[in-house]
Order: sequence, then C-alpha cells, then structure tokens
Amino acid sequence: MADSEVFTSVDSLREALQSENNDSKTGFFPTMGALHHGHLALVKKVFEHADVVVVSIFVNPTQFNNPDDLKKYPRNLQKDIDLLKTAGKVLVFAPTVEEMYPSSYKELELDLGALGTVMEGKFRDGHFNGVVNVVNRLFEIVEPDLAFFGMKDFQQLAVIQFMVNQFSLPVEIVPCEIIREESGLASSSRNARLSEKDKEEAVVLSTSLRIAKELSGVFPPIKVKEIINEIIGRSSLELEYFEIVHPKTLLSISEWMPGSQACIAAYCGDVRLIDNMQLTEF
Ligand code: PAF
Repeated sequence: MADSEVFTSVDSLREALQSENNDSKTGFFPTMGALHHGHLALVKKVFEHADVVVVSIFVNPTQFNNPDDLKKYPRNLQKDIDLLKTAGKVLVFAPTVEEMYPSSYKELELDLGALGTVMEGKFRDGHFNGVVNVVNRLFEIVEPDLAFFGMKDFQQLAVIQFMVNQFSLPVEIVPCEIIREESGLASSSRNARLSEKDKEEAVVLSTSLRIAKELSGVFPPIKVKEIINEIIGRSSLELEYFEIVHPKTLLSISEWMPGSQACIAAYCGDVRLIDNMQLTEF
C-alpha cells in the first residue's frame, strides 16, 4: 500500500502540489466519496495518464435539489481513504463546505442552454449550476492537466466539457467508460442504499438500455421509447425519464443518427438511479 495524503484545506493541498516536479502531469478525479470498485478502476486509469494523482471527496450541497437526498448520501471518509491507498499514492482532497465556499466565494454564472434544462436539468432544478460551480472551484484549486469523469453521468460530462470550452480552461477532460456490476447494473455510490432485492430489480435499467440498442435497428426512436416505457412500467421502478438524444446537444431525436444516445433515470424505492448507453455507432 502506498502512502496517500489527506488534505482538508486548500492551502495545504496547493503547497503539496507546488512541491511536485514542474514537469509532472496532474490527473484529477473529482468524487463525492462512498467510493466503490468503479471509482477504483477509474483511479487506476488516472495513474496511467498522470504523475500526480488528486482525488477530491466532497459531497457538494449546492448540487442537491432534494435535502433528503443530500442527507442520505452515503459518506465514509476513512473507508474511502483506505480504498484509495490500494491504488497508489493519491493526494486526497477532502475539504469542508466552508473551505470550498468561503464567504468571499463568488458564484460562477454560466448559461448552459438546453444542456442544462433537459433530462437531469428538468428533474433536478439547479443541479448543474451546483456542478459547474463546484467543478470550476476544484479546477481552480487543483489546476489539473487532465480531469477524469465517468460516462455514467453522461449529461454532466457534456456540461463540464461545455464549461471548459466556454471559459477556455486549460484542462483536458477524459471521459471514462461506465463500470457495471456482473448483473449489468451501473456501479454507483447510491447502490450502497439498495437491498439485494432492489439491486435485482434495478437491473431493469441496464436491460432496457440493451433492449433499446437491439431495437434501434428495427424501430424508429419513438417506438423504442414506447416499448422501454412499457418495460419499466411493468417493473417496480418508477421511471422519471427515458430519452433518446443527440449525443452532443442532448436534444430528443426522432430519427436515428450516428451516436444516438439513450439516457434513463428512475427511482428504485427512494433511491434515484441513472444510466445511459450509446445505441448506434458513430
Ligand atoms: O459526479 C460526481 O460525483 C459529482 O457531480 C462531482 C463531479 C464530483 C461534483 O460534485
């Protein structure tokens, strides 16, 4: 096990980063903790691309539109740190809310257009404003050369890339494949709140996406949406949305195109889960 270091203040993290070799590449993976094997796989990927690896663990309150969801979000810092140590020497940044948002903090304003209003944006008011603010603040603190984001949060990835382009931020965004359980269920910190039975039922999300992919060569998007709505309707999950969208604009499409993307969100009990899949080749 390598010695990872944990920093709770911006100054201490910056001091550590400044003591690194000037030529070293910093790879950054922002997280909200409750780390699982999917995160670990991603941290290993960061190690392949960077000399200095920074992982932040911060449950960002400003991106939760539902206070109950924020309260119930799984937290286990010590377990997270122990898991990260198994990957190598990681600089762990685990700030407090006050450290991230001091009274002098000035909120970043960015009009995301449709990217911020469809799907997650429609159901989680203010969510992406919170994400954009926290990620921009973390980028200012860490100044990474590369930043890694999981593709499970497909819309978040599009939003972050948009922010980076809009502000010409000097960071390369590296999208990372979705890590799945053997059952097909997308790995997520929220899975920690699912019982074994819930997990079995939640598999309908990935199954539906796979069915949608198979049907993409057979039926138009509208018909595929209808079929998937029916399948989820017969399950115990409560569907929030199933959309087939343009891979860049994230607007709903009525005809297949290269890289057509399906995105889904549903409640399994009181746990909100999301997943997505590329349905057609680029
Ligand atoms: O994807 C997440 O875990 C969060 O949205 C992020 C990017 C760490 C910002 O809080």
